[in-house]
Amino acid sequence: MLQGPTTRRMYHYFISEMLPVAMIIAIATLVSMATARSSLNDLESHFSMENESEEVRSAAIRRLLEVFGMEGAPLLRGDKQPPQYMVDLYNTVADVDGVTKDPYILEGNTVRSFFDKLHSEQIEFLFNLSMVASSEKVLTAELHLFKLRPQVSATFNRYHFCQVSVYQLLDSSKMNITQGKKLLSSRLIPVPSTGWEVFTITQAVRSWMAVEGNNLGLLVTVQTLGGSQMDEKVVRFSSGRNHHKSKQPMLVLFTDDGRRAAALDNTVKDPNETPAVPGLSNLPNTPGFHRSARSLDYDEDVEKMTCQRLPLYVDFEEIGWSGWIVSPRGYNAYHCKGSCPFPLGQNMRPTNHATVQSIINALKLTKGIETPCCAPDKLFSINLLYFDDDENVVLKQYDDMVAGSCGCH
Ligand SMILES: *[C@@H]1O[C@H](CO)[C@@H](O)[C@H](O)[C@H]1NC(C)=O
Ligand SMILES: *[C@@H]1O[C@H](CO)[C@@H](O)[C@H](O)[C@H]1NC(C)=O
Ligand SMILES: *[C@@H]1O[C@H](CO)[C@@H](O)[C@H](O)[C@H]1NC(C)=O
Repeated sequence: MLQGPTTRRMYHYFISEMLPVAMIIAIATLVSMATARSSLNDLESHFSMENESEEVRSAAIRRLLEVFGMEGAPLLRGDKQPPQYMVDLYNTVADVDGVTKDPYILEGNTVRSFFDKLHSEQIEFLFNLSMVASSEKVLTAELHLFKLRPQVSATFNRYHFCQVSVYQLLDSSKMNITQGKKLLSSRLIPVPSTGWEVFTITQAVRSWMAVEGNNLGLLVTVQTLGGSQMDEKVVRFSSGRNHHKSKQPMLVLFTDDGRRAAALDNTVKDPNETPAVPGLSNLPNTPGFHRSARSLDYDEDVEKMTCQRLPLYVDFEEIGWSGWIVSPRGYNAYHCKGSCPFPLGQNMRPTNHATVQSIINALKLTKGIETPCCAPDKLFSINLLYFDDDENVVLKQYDDMVAGSCGCH
């Protein structure tokens, strides 16, 4: 993993420059304020009547896309189903709100799936990897093939095993290679078996990423143990052409964009500790979290409230992203609110610096020293399962998106 001193320095810079959760809160507030609603109070409808609010809204949404590492919201044609493998992977990694269950399940922070573009009669595949950023480090690449049940006529076949080999196709004219293909992976598979077979093809994908134009596709051969060609009716793999969509050949790519290594390095990990939820009982029990949070903004009682974590629901449907984000529908980013008065108790999780500052403030020793600020002191990552511009399904982890607890800083 990338853990050099340079990365670490860059990360500190990144965090201090643009703490994602703080930005999300700012953006979510802007977006919700700019969305005109009859239920909103006078202040907000006044805000949305000005036509610059539309500009603010689109600028905010552009900025939010940047937080999620995208240039624009992908356009999706028609109703698309994500591969079951990706849905299962998402459910393994994330809880219902998209919050990462265990940051060590995934090696990198991105998993991309691709469908074959060739739809060939042969067991030959081509995957378009143009959506992978050149900065992404390829950790593992897998070819997923669905092996179909042998046809009935082949039941009395005398072979028990077959040798399945995956080759990378090479440009033989350019390199004077007689064979024109390179073996990537090969193994014995029981002839009567049915289900997914996974082959590691990392080498090939790395070479495709390194040199544009190297990607001529993959070829799969099925042989008897004696080395002769196996009858195609006996050992068959599902193709994108004539078989069910859920069994399409697929390339699954595990990558890392370098942001996660730095984050893990930085966060104090305490797996036994569950996120603290101080003061949630103070809240009115309403289902629309963002409403209750919003109404508190204008509540005079806020002045008296001590630093605590309050809900802040980021609703992807409200932002207009429900078309391309498969999961989650939204997530609770939480926000930190309240005062940090003297004396700061341990429940306010003060830093030593905050404790001293609150004492100086109380003693009025120095002019212009405020009480410390209520801010997130633990942040969690969330996962997004979404369609990219090329309609590939991507699972991506974003660090520091959810305030796990609040403290006086
Ligand atoms: C804002 O309103 C003015 C006048 O009403 C108009 O000329 C201008 O094009 C509007 N701007 C936008 C971004 O809608
Ligand atoms: C791969 O996809 C991109 C984006 O959709 C497209 O511009 C490009 O032509 C495709 N390449 C091939 C070889 O099909
Ligand atoms: C490779 O092939 C080219 C023509 O396709 C030829 O000019 C060149 O001499 C060959 N190189 C080797 C090492 O055989």
